[in-house]
Amino acid sequence: MLSFCLYLAALLLQIQSITLTQFKNYSQQSFQFHERIIGICGKNGVGKTNLLDAIHYLSFAKSHFNRIEQLNSLHGYNGFRIEATIQLNDKAENVICIVREDGKKDFLLNEVPYQKMANHIGRYPCVMIAPDDIHIITGISEDRRRWMDRLFSQLDSVYLSHLVTYNRLLQQRNSLLRNFAENNVTDFTLLDVLDEQMQPHTNYIFEKRNSMLQLLISEILSNYKKISAVDESLEILYETELLHTPFSELLKWNRKKDLAALRTTGGIHRDEIIFKINSQLFKNIASQGQRKSLLFALKLTEFEVLKSNKGFSPILLLDDVFEKLDEDRIGNLLQEVCTAKDGHVFITDTNRERLAIHLKQFTSGFAIIDL
Ligand SMILES: Nc1ncnc2c1ncn2[C@@H]1O[C@H](COP(=O)(O)OP(=O)(O)OP(=O)(O)O)[C@@H](O)[C@H]1O
Ligand SMILES: [Mg+2]
Repeated sequence: MLSFCLYLAALLLQIQSITLTQFKNYSQQSFQFHERIIGICGKNGVGKTNLLDAIHYLSFAKSHFNRIEQLNSLHGYNGFRIEATIQLNDKAENVICIVREDGKKDFLLNEVPYQKMANHIGRYPCVMIAPDDIHIITGISEDRRRWMDRLFSQLDSVYLSHLVTYNRLLQQRNSLLRNFAENNVTDFTLLDVLDEQMQPHTNYIFEKRNSMLQLLISEILSNYKKISAVDESLEILYETELLHTPFSELLKWNRKKDLAALRTTGGIHRDEIIFKINSQLFKNIASQGQRKSLLFALKLTEFEVLKSNKGFSPILLLDDVFEKLDEDRIGNLLQEVCTAKDGHVFITDTNRERLAIHLKQFTSGFAIIDL
């Protein structure tokens, strides 16, 4: 048993220090992290979320918020640098992310630059929960597919390559449908070829989504129950026509409709994850606290899946998580994060006293950084 515990301890992923240069509102600042749970406190606009975003860079080589790199440079400057020391498998690693004045990005591990950024993804698994992520619950179906695809791609690179090819073929098929209408000719042979090419990619993605979601759904329900602590009869369903109809038949049946709509009306790009509460659509009737609880349940499930896949806990970044949650749910969430889970955790809050009181209830292993 002891050797098992030592093994786990040796696998811990922990950020020891980080230095931000010209990154968002930070001109130059270093932070040292000596505890497992780090509270980051300060008034609105002091840079709490920005610090979490810098940590996000260490895992994904990109911002959780801005796709345009130059928006992340301190106003008036072009380019920034984030450097960190990260402990992984009992060894300290040096990570540097530089966005240069011309926009070129370099990412170095122990002073060796990555040739492909994708090779780094997954080395330091990380789960971020930010207020805007609520769109996974309340937004359009594409938001939920993106959540699922991002997670499954981190776990299975074959899934990602099937998805990329499927999306390319889908675009080709849709432009073919538009061409038919523009030129007033329909070449069914060409359509048949594309339909056949899409088949193996559809099958892989559908099978993977179906099997993974069966596993995840019970985890999400159980995490939701832990946070809400009441039985709110939540239901989660994977909705896709492929559950009832093979893809080849679906395309045949939809052919007339597709030709009229000038796009492919059926397939895995239309899949949906439905959340229901008391048999009604969750996003239509759930309160803000309930929505937030479901978001945490999804993200904590993501955390657990990554943990069991990687063999150690991801970094957990919690931005402004307490807003709209009652005291019970805050307690249940922190119980999960501080006690039930291990791994390095960063939590922002404008209210230092509230955070300290809550954290003290669950752990002595925390530190608060005041910005
Ligand atoms: N590129 C940039 N250059 C300079 N300042 C920036 C840049 N991008 C964002 N900021 C500023 O950084 C400040 C801190 O933002 P941040 O979102 O981290 O605040 P916060 O502490 O999380 O606040 P809140 O409690 O409101 O969430 C904001 O005033 C924002 O305008
Ligand atoms: Mg913030």
